[in-house]
Amino acid sequence: MAENPTVKLGVLISGAGTNLQAIIDAILRGDLRAEIRLVISNRAGAQGLERARRHGIETMVIDHRKFTSREDFDRAILAALLDRSVELVALAGFMRLLSPVMLEAFPGRIMNIHNSLLPSFPGIHGPKEAIEYGVKIAGCTVFFVTAGVDVGPVIVQAAVPVLPGDDEQRLAARILLQEHRIFPHAIALFQQGRLEIQGRRVIIKGDSATPNSPPLVNPPVDRFEN
Ligand code: GAR
Repeated sequence: MAENPTVKLGVLISGAGTNLQAIIDAILRGDLRAEIRLVISNRAGAQGLERARRHGIETMVIDHRKFTSREDFDRAILAALLDRSVELVALAGFMRLLSPVMLEAFPGRIMNIHNSLLPSFPGIHGPKEAIEYGVKIAGCTVFFVTAGVDVGPVIVQAAVPVLPGDDEQRLAARILLQEHRIFPHAIALFQQGRLEIQGRRVIIKGDSATPNSPPLVNPPVDRFEN
């Protein structure tokens, strides 16, 4: 069977870029057939820019404060991505909302990572709000971006137990480790042509989950086994 071609990626960041690093590492390991054509940051000081440069990836700073509207900012991003024939856009800690300019140019081709189990705790304080609410299971979500904050069709989620004594930092760090697994995985599913969006749902061809897939229970239940 013919293999799907390498996917051309554009990655948008605002900060540390550890998810960008996870994507780079997955490509280097051979687990992800992708080529990062461009990394764009809206902040000049974003540490992720340095990560990209270290790997010889082209970088660009497009500062949102220099634009009078969200649409103009997006038009600048879009032009740079189209110029490099980008097929899939990965938002890796990109802290700006996209306008229809980007959403309509890349329908079903923009992925975002968020550090909560959506639809719980959208926004920018996922782990903090999970702790404050008192949930026992937190996590992260990769989803296709649509209009609105963290509301698009879910592709992959990872559940992370909240532990006694967790503060925002500790929980966020454990969630981040799982983000680094599921984001490259979701991109690989896209590259392999296995994702199909049906309304709110993402159908994954060859999904290997079964009725025997282990549930995550937290705190662990050591009696009452069935
Ligand atoms: C990640 O935890 C990501 O889930 C979160 O920002 C962090 C970026 O880290 N994104 C959001 O909260 C978006 N709503 P990184 O720059 O090290 O990849």
